[in-house]
Amino acid sequence: MKLAILGGSFNPVHMGHLVLADTVLSALRYDRIILIPTYQSPFKQGAVGGGPQDRLDMLAASIPGDPRLTMDDCEIKRKGVSYTIDTVKDIIARYRPEGKPGLVLGDDLAGNFFSWRQAAEIMRQVDIIIAHRVAAASESFPYPHKRLNNAIIEISSAVLRDSIKDQGNWRYLVPHGARAIIEDRKLYGYIPPEAWGTVPGVPAMPAVPSTWGRIGEVETAVRMAVSFSRFLHSRNTALLSWDLCIRFGLDPQKGYLAGIAHDICKPLGEEEMCFLARMDGKDIDAVERQKPSLLHGRAAAVVLKNRFNIHDEAILEAVRLHTTGAMGMGPLAKVVYIADKLEISRENRDPSILDLRETANLDRLFGAVLEETVGHLRAQALDISEGTLRLFETVHKRNNR
Ligand SMILES: [Fe+2]
Ligand SMILES: [Fe+2]
Repeated sequence: MKLAILGGSFNPVHMGHLVLADTVLSALRYDRIILIPTYQSPFKQGAVGGGPQDRLDMLAASIPGDPRLTMDDCEIKRKGVSYTIDTVKDIIARYRPEGKPGLVLGDDLAGNFFSWRQAAEIMRQVDIIIAHRVAAASESFPYPHKRLNNAIIEISSAVLRDSIKDQGNWRYLVPHGARAIIEDRKLYGYIPPEAWGTVPGVPAMPAVPSTWGRIGEVETAVRMAVSFSRFLHSRNTALLSWDLCIRFGLDPQKGYLAGIAHDICKPLGEEEMCFLARMDGKDIDAVERQKPSLLHGRAAAVVLKNRFNIHDEAILEAVRLHTTGAMGMGPLAKVVYIADKLEISRENRDPSILDLRETANLDRLFGAVLEETVGHLRAQALDISEGTLRLFETVHKRNNR
């Protein structure tokens, strides 16, 4: 197997690193490229921000599903100053590549390559690949090498670190998995949006979603499980839930997660739906037995809990009850129930129902949506579950008092 090596601090890894790795693979026909984070670079003193394990974890989270890219922790395990010659020997001994491995050097470092420890030996062991880092016309390198005509992506880890600290626009410059780790571990001085306004010098801003654990993962799974139009409905439900949660003082991320996930089991067959729904420990009632598609909310709550490890009861309740509603349902469940019915891509509804979205009181809004839904079901002569009817009568009475 033909191997290439790309070392760096990866503090944090960013899209420029991945684009460079991909260019090496495709332009020079290597089979695999190994990304190797330094423990301590001979050129940069002192670690800033991410510790060694954070940098490894960010790398690992950035390359799933692409077998052409891998990573190695040899420099981090070795500790001390990371010298390239030690790494090259180690990689050759363990990986046994076909021919000499390629070693990617940025043209910003190529100028003083011969001051590196055992530079001549490095040259004997590897094929040097000079990549553009700072300018298209780069310094000459008067020794055998391959030159990579790569595009310069103007992202630097140092600028990213500042941007993270200053609540700037770093989010789409790093791979999604790395972003999740930065946010979860609050690396580089990251402040979660919900804390903005409580930190001196950081003004409150409209919330910027952090990936907050598993939202991205759940959303990807939904996209794979349902048709595109159903996915659009789910996403619009998530967005409206987000907006309504902000309006009614609830956690918008919980609303988004419940909204994106609520229909994940909709395409399942009856047998599977019943099997999953029963895993919540409750019986299947007469109306559900007659119309098992009503169980897709219960089944989705089971999937969220068992597959995605989400145990927040408000989220699970919102997903479980979004089809029928139930007496005593909490505010998040009401929001998701409303959003499911009022989101913009929902078809077969009287467009005037969209006016309801402006209702300023959650219970009134919920009552109005419930009334509209029950009216719709009656008009279509569809079965209505007992729970929904009881809920409807109670809410109707309360709102008309
Ligand atoms: Fe649904
Ligand atoms: Fe839905």
